[in-house]
Amino acid sequence: MFQNPTHRPLKITYKTPDEIEKMRVAGRLAAEVLDMIAPYVQEGVTTEELDRICYDYMVNVQQVIPAPLNYRGFPKSICTSVNHVVCHGIPGPKKLKKGDVVNLDITVIKDGYHGDTSRMFQIGTPPIAAQRVCQIAYECLCIGIRTVRPGLHLGDIGHAIQQYAEAQHCSVVREYCGHGIGRDFHEDPQVLHYGKPGDGVLLVPSMTFTIEPMINAGKRHVKRLPDNWTVVTKDHSISAQWEHTVLVTETGYEILTLSPGATL
Ligand code: MF3
Ligand code: CO
Ligand code: CO
Repeated sequence: MFQNPTHRPLKITYKTPDEIEKMRVAGRLAAEVLDMIAPYVQEGVTTEELDRICYDYMVNVQQVIPAPLNYRGFPKSICTSVNHVVCHGIPGPKKLKKGDVVNLDITVIKDGYHGDTSRMFQIGTPPIAAQRVCQIAYECLCIGIRTVRPGLHLGDIGHAIQQYAEAQHCSVVREYCGHGIGRDFHEDPQVLHYGKPGDGVLLVPSMTFTIEPMINAGKRHVKRLPDNWTVVTKDHSISAQWEHTVLVTETGYEILTLSPGATL
């Protein structure tokens, strides 16, 4: 989500056991949308067709609310970010073609609580460089998640992700970040995917937030298109992102957005 640099007191919501159970349900449902849509993500399908299939499944089968729809004016139910699109791509009439990589980002609201998760999909066999950035972004998510435990800080997560990404000669997008999540789509704190060990908010059991590193094959700089949503790499290099919603537990973490088809 958008990174907000203003300094204000943080309003972190620590979840009760009841709320955590609702977050588990919402998280699993979001992941199941990705499982459902996976077989449709093929050469020739348009991103607005994928949006429509997801909308129908969410509303009619799962009976959840697609959180992006009308969120701050976003016009569709999912985000579809193809190739050099970093995030917040708006589904449209363009067909996916062989060699594309696409992120599908799903957020559902069930019983008042949000679940937010995204994955990369590959159409045919993309160029090795595109496959590689998808893999590295995935590893960045795993490394970030494995860092989560009480007593560490958000800066430890960001640092671990940045270290790995940059060692692989990729770059980490700074303008967008993970976020607290619960009754609201985007809650405090902001979860940066870069940083310094020991910096930032202390991790405490019952916090729920997303980790969703955006990793570029080229330089980290991004710009927003005139539609006011679509974020692209300035150098048009390929960008990849994976996202999970996680809970801080007494001993570490629980991933809330797992499903049979989820990796990790
Ligand atoms: N799902 C995105 C995230 O991970 C946010 C999308 S906002 C929208 O934070 F309005 F574009 F849907
Ligand atoms: Co998110
Ligand atoms: Co998301």
